[in-house]
Amino acid sequence: MNIAIDGPAGAGKSTVAQKVAGQLEYVYIDTGSMYRALAWAVHHNQLAIEDEPSVSELLQNNEIRLVREHGQQTVFWNDKDVTGLIRSTEVSQYASIVASYGSVREQMLVLQRNLAKQGNVVMDGRDIGTHVLPDAEVKIFLTASSRERAERRWKELLTKGIQTDLDELEKEIEERDLRDMSREVAPLRQADDAVLVDTTGITIDEVVDRILQICERTG
Ligand code: C5P
Repeated sequence: MNIAIDGPAGAGKSTVAQKVAGQLEYVYIDTGSMYRALAWAVHHNQLAIEDEPSVSELLQNNEIRLVREHGQQTVFWNDKDVTGLIRSTEVSQYASIVASYGSVREQMLVLQRNLAKQGNVVMDGRDIGTHVLPDAEVKIFLTASSRERAERRWKELLTKGIQTDLDELEKEIEERDLRDMSREVAPLRQADDAVLVDTTGITIDEVVDRILQICERTG
């Protein structure tokens, strides 16, 4: 069985997907980290972000690897561990720009389907249920209000000692969602056969339980 979890930025997809994968002993694949790694490399190599052919060529000539160890995912751009470098706000915005390029998405689709080939994966992203794994047995569309998503991010940053402006965070999240929903290729949308789970006001563990129940009913 494969499980696809899609939804807007900050809906808690990766936390939930990791927990679901842990419970079921499935492999967790974070596709957003792949777009983030490419975005980081574009910046690192000082390429112009609007130059789609060069961005696409950069992906073609390099390797992104997701390595799982002790339940943690490490992201490599060739041999460089970029796990800690790809979570900045700047990389987030860049990631949603490179993700709007058809030539980039085509390559990512091949890489992601290969990663899911062995089955029993929980994959999260924006187009998993609609494009990457349209035959996934369980499809979840996870969402929450943009205010709540911004508040979660704000709290997460605070625990890391980083103080930010909540309104600014909400604006960034909304900007990214709009770009993800309005792009021509594989935009963010709920698959027709996906179950909508609104996480506003409910805990991570409640969300995980709800998804596990859906899996049980399916499996
Ligand atoms: O999920 P995360 O916030 O890490 O994703 C970063 C960006 O990568 C998203 O804003 C989106 O533009 C892009 N993305 C995508 N398709 C996916 C996963 C991520 O377009 N399957």
